[in-house]
Amino acid sequence: MKPYKVTIDTDKCVGCGICSKVCVAHNIAIKNKKAEILSDNCVMCGQCTAACPKNALSITGYHDKPVEKSGEIRLNPDDVLDVIRFRRSIRQFKQTKIPKEVIAQILEAGRLTHTAKNMQDVSFVVLDKRKDKLEQMAVNIFRRIKPLADIFSPMARSNKIDDHFFFFNAPIAVVILAKDKTNGLLAAQNMEFVAEAHGLGVLYSGFFTMAANASRKMKKAMNVPKGKSVAMTLVLGYPNVKFLRSAPRKKLDVKFM
Ligand SMILES: Cc1cc2nc3c(=O)[nH]c(=O)nc-3n(C[C@H](O)[C@H](O)[C@H](O)COP(=O)(O)O)c2cc1C
Repeated sequence: MKPYKVTIDTDKCVGCGICSKVCVAHNIAIKNKKAEILSDNCVMCGQCTAACPKNALSITGYHDKPVEKSGEIRLNPDDVLDVIRFRRSIRQFKQTKIPKEVIAQILEAGRLTHTAKNMQDVSFVVLDKRKDKLEQMAVNIFRRIKPLADIFSPMARSNKIDDHFFFFNAPIAVVILAKDKTNGLLAAQNMEFVAEAHGLGVLYSGFFTMAANASRKMKKAMNVPKGKSVAMTLVLGYPNVKFLRSAPRKKLDVKFM
């Protein structure tokens, strides 16, 4: 039996048809002035439950209850653009601990992020006490492959792989696991926004992600489940550097057709 099921409280349902209109699977019809689920062909996205004006639809099996919106939530577009414009990758961190509640909110941003087909396949490993051990494993891998990388890449040649090559002494790193990489990356971006809203600096570690995905030993050490891989690794901490202006970008490359 499926752990999740859409249920309709027919006493509450007024047959307005909004649920049917928003259903991505075209799986809800109005019959005799009541909503009716047509088949098991449902991705449990929850659009019907979120849109019903009478709160007549629900999904069984999830642990959290729907949160009512108290009004329109609208961010100022200029502020949002400035957040994007002025964000910088941070590699200089203070040794200040990140409060547990802040880490919880960053993880919540990841959990709430939408996923393709509503897979909800994204999970997280917070590297705290075991951060240095995992970083050392990645360092060992990179040191092994460095002679080869040096042949092809001038940047690799000028890069020294010290013991903190991946995490730059940040207090924590969050490894984002997913079956579908896009889902993990969307979660990463939302997590970054929340982290920045808390005054944290963030670095996307593509290198650690690469090392972890290449190493069965690292995946085992982080308990990466079968079928998942590391989508991204976020390095987090309070910045010990201040950036004063935006950095140049190439001009907009766009075609309107
Ligand atoms: C997907 C991705 C992976 C990255 N991986 C690394 C990394 O492993 N190590 C690192 O020092 N910087 C990493 N970066 C940071 C980029 O080098 C950085 O974004 C770029 O130089 C532009 O600088 P800015 O982020 O401050 O604008 C990564 C960035 C992205 C988007």
